[in-house]
Amino acid sequence: MKNRIISFLLLSLLILLINTVNAQTDNSSNPELDKKVEAFLKDSRGEWRDMNVPASDGQLLYDLIIENKYTQALEIGTSTGHSGIWIAWALSKTGGKLITIDISESRHKEALENFKKAGLSEYIDARLADAHELVLELEGPFDFVFSDADKGWYKNYFIAVYPKLKSGGCFTAHNVSNRMSGIKEFLDYVESLPDMKTTINRSSSSGVSISYKD
Ligand SMILES: C[S@@+](CC[C@H](N)C(=O)[O-])C[C@H]1O[C@@H](n2cnc3c(N)ncnc32)[C@H](O)[C@@H]1O
Repeated sequence: MKNRIISFLLLSLLILLINTVNAQTDNSSNPELDKKVEAFLKDSRGEWRDMNVPASDGQLLYDLIIENKYTQALEIGTSTGHSGIWIAWALSKTGGKLITIDISESRHKEALENFKKAGLSEYIDARLADAHELVLELEGPFDFVFSDADKGWYKNYFIAVYPKLKSGGCFTAHNVSNRMSGIKEFLDYVESLPDMKTTINRSSSSGVSISYKD
């Protein structure tokens, strides 16, 4: 009987210990942050006027990061931060971080304010820079990339990021619905690579290409 009680106590202690360790390493649950981000996104809905993605595309990026547990993200084209907020919110759950780049000082500043209001600043390294130069300089590696700046440069952005994109990682690009100039060259190039598998999500009228690296 005594042995049974001791075994029971030891088992209970072990379970308690495992739960404590799990709680300390699990970034996925932060109800207060969720509430803050949700409230910010709700209040700002309809207020995004700086070429920002629609909420449905933000949700798509969020889902991709959560599903694949991505942690090393790069966004090219921050604008005032709508897509960045969806990306960083997902990264707050996977334990990751986002580098986001924009060349416009006023939009960069507004994005910083928005990231703060959403409670996500600590997950975002926002750079004011010309992405034509900075994307080449960034070391990486990245497992998630969202390209949403100048469409004529999409292929160059992809070529610069490709060696730094991890196996299993994914390169996404916005506004690819119409194969207009720039977009066509990018899509033709990425679709020609045997180790990249590309699909196009058309749930919004903009269209988002999703290219996974083998
Ligand atoms: C379509 S908006 C990005 C929208 C943003 N992803 C969102 O959903 O909130 C494109 C942004 O790319 C930026 N951009 C254009 N050319 C750039 C370059 N060479 N380097 C960095 N940013 C650039 C613009 O200033 C603009 O803010």
